[in-house]
Amino acid sequence: MRTMKNQMKQTFLLQRLPARHLSMLRQIGRLADEQDLPVYLVGGVVRDLLLKRTNWDLDLTVEGDGIAFARLVADRYRAGLATFERFATARLVMPNGIKVDIASTRRESYVRPAALPNVEPATLHEDLRRRDFTINAMAIQLNSATFGHLHDPYGGQGDLRARTIRVLHEGSFVDDPTRMFRAIRFAQRFGFRLESQTARLLKAGAATDLIAQLSGPRLCNEILLLAGEVCPQRSFDWLRRLKLLRFLHPDLRYAGPARRIVQSLPRALAWWWRRCNGDSIDRPLLYVMALLAGAEQPIIEAVGMRLMLSNEQAKKVRAGGQRLKSVVRGLGEARRLRPSEVHRLLNGLPDEALVLCLAMVKERTAMLARVKRRICDYVKRLRVTKPALGGDELLHMGVEPGPAVGTILALLLEAKLDGVARGKADERAFVRARLAGDA
Ligand code: CTP
Repeated sequence: MRTMKNQMKQTFLLQRLPARHLSMLRQIGRLADEQDLPVYLVGGVVRDLLLKRTNWDLDLTVEGDGIAFARLVADRYRAGLATFERFATARLVMPNGIKVDIASTRRESYVRPAALPNVEPATLHEDLRRRDFTINAMAIQLNSATFGHLHDPYGGQGDLRARTIRVLHEGSFVDDPTRMFRAIRFAQRFGFRLESQTARLLKAGAATDLIAQLSGPRLCNEILLLAGEVCPQRSFDWLRRLKLLRFLHPDLRYAGPARRIVQSLPRALAWWWRRCNGDSIDRPLLYVMALLAGAEQPIIEAVGMRLMLSNEQAKKVRAGGQRLKSVVRGLGEARRLRPSEVHRLLNGLPDEALVLCLAMVKERTAMLARVKRRICDYVKRLRVTKPALGGDELLHMGVEPGPAVGTILALLLEAKLDGVARGKADERAFVRARLAGDA
């Protein structure tokens, strides 16, 4: 009777998963039984099951050869498989689309701080001990006899109850400086506080140059993850207080105006999604652009290089910064603007920069109403307007091949936007007049 009760209590946590995830984990547990391998669900998903938060990132770890076990699962269930031998990990994509990462329980040694670790086999407890925080150092057993049993050797449940982020050992931030960003991220996401020793270690780590040793993509990943949280503004304040923004650029200041813009972004984004069908927005990148809103162009360029942004990301980020101030000033002018003037102000800006413009204007002002109206008009009408004539037709009419074609097309577009040219005939007349004038 008691064992049955225990069993029910143990599976209770896993029952918070969707039924198809649960049944897949049972099958994986049975397959591990056949191999005599202990297998566990581990890390963030265990934390989130305890917190009753949605997280379907299934990270599994095997006390044994994780890659060999992943191959077995892939064969048995016809799953897609990718292996990463250097890190002794594998990723499975099950036929029903569920993704499962499988690793071997390991000990990690760092040749030098901030380097990627060397990996050696180890027990589950050793594996949990090398992790970042106690709340992420728990595992749930999947083998049939103890299906659902929670392993919590370092007090993760207690820290979840006490709403506390706590490192597992003194060297945690030195081994892996990305954990400084992770500490901020989890503290903000869950509204947890940092345990005092952890806070001290974080402060000490932030004062060193360890983060400077992180590669561009690793630093970028952490910044974008912070920016992708529900309330990035609080995390940005942590970065400012800990002076971590110097690792993006020594002269980057996140002062009053940029902070106000970051704070206004939720409102600006809500408006954008409501009015402009904004699924085109890269929200984390937009927050990074807001963080950089007070910066001059050379700093923005340098930050893009440091983070090794992709071309597309760099192009968007480049459109932000101080230079948007004059755009906003133009958009907010009280006089009547011709549509071509609005087009000229906004032409070529990515959607993220348009949202940023909105966030730069004070709330509940007549200026904000004008900026909104003009951005909306630009997105819905002006930027999709094209001249009726194409380049070929211009050449046919006698325009010189080369830059003149582009210039005349731009003039035709402005004429069309402003209602001066209302169709092909008007545009042809416009071109003929221009050619006669040039002659
Ligand atoms: N981990 C770690 N140190 C890191 C990164 C990860 O110890 N620098 C461990 C933690 O146990 C973490 C697990 O690896 O729970 C999985 O990492 P990841 O998927 O990055 O984090 P999650 O905890 O799942 O966080 P999130 O909810 O943001 O995905």
